[in-house]
Amino acid sequence: GLSPQEQAKKRAGYKAADYITNGMTVGLGTGSTVAFTMARLKERMTEEGLLIVGIPTSIQTTMRAGALGIPLIGLEQAEKIDITVDGADQIDPEMRLIKGRGAAHVRERIVADASTRLIIVADPSKICSHLTGPIPIEIIPFSFSHVIRRLNEMGGMVTVREGVKKDGPVISDNGNIILDYTPVSIPDPSALETAINMIPGVVSCGIFAEFTSKTTVIIGEESGPRII
Ligand code: A5P
Repeated sequence: GLSPQEQAKKRAGYKAADYITNGMTVGLGTGSTVAFTMARLKERMTEEGLLIVGIPTSIQTTMRAGALGIPLIGLEQAEKIDITVDGADQIDPEMRLIKGRGAAHVRERIVADASTRLIIVADPSKICSHLTGPIPIEIIPFSFSHVIRRLNEMGGMVTVREGVKKDGPVISDNGNIILDYTPVSIPDPSALETAINMIPGVVSCGIFAEFTSKTTVIIGEESGPRII
């Protein structure tokens, strides 16, 4: 059976599938919670004949969609993306996010930005009063010493993400490396997002503060999914 946390992810993930209607182009985020949304979308395809196309944000999601038989198109094939469903690692009361635990945040940000609407699915452990980090930062390999120096000047702690079943750094789906940066504090998430993204060599950090006006958050509470 599923653990209590997995059940919470399932409640949130399944609920998000209710927002998808026939003919939609759906951005498919990455991680264990949106995997439940994809499983539910597959059920609806079989039960109701729901017709959708997905745009994947990672190799993991591409493989899962392939196994489920959810049709995918490239970003360049999409006239518009109606809804993106994605997970998050931290969610603050204003629906600002930290993403990138799975190193997929660069493509996730592009697909979120291209979407009319963003639905974030999560278990209750992701809710926080303030974003604290660590903040994943994808950087091009050439730049690592420079970016680390700049982050150290900003204060806090920075590490190069290492593989579990691989020696050396984790390589992202885009062929880059990932830093995990824990600042001393994050008084202004939007300002910090911009400051990090401005460091030469940074592709993108995991702070998502610019999508709040089109975001719906679904938390898989024990009593049922809570919509924010
Ligand atoms: C991927 O890099 C992340 O942004 C994920 O979307 C996030 O870590 C959510 O994953 P879970 O749903 O597995 O917690």
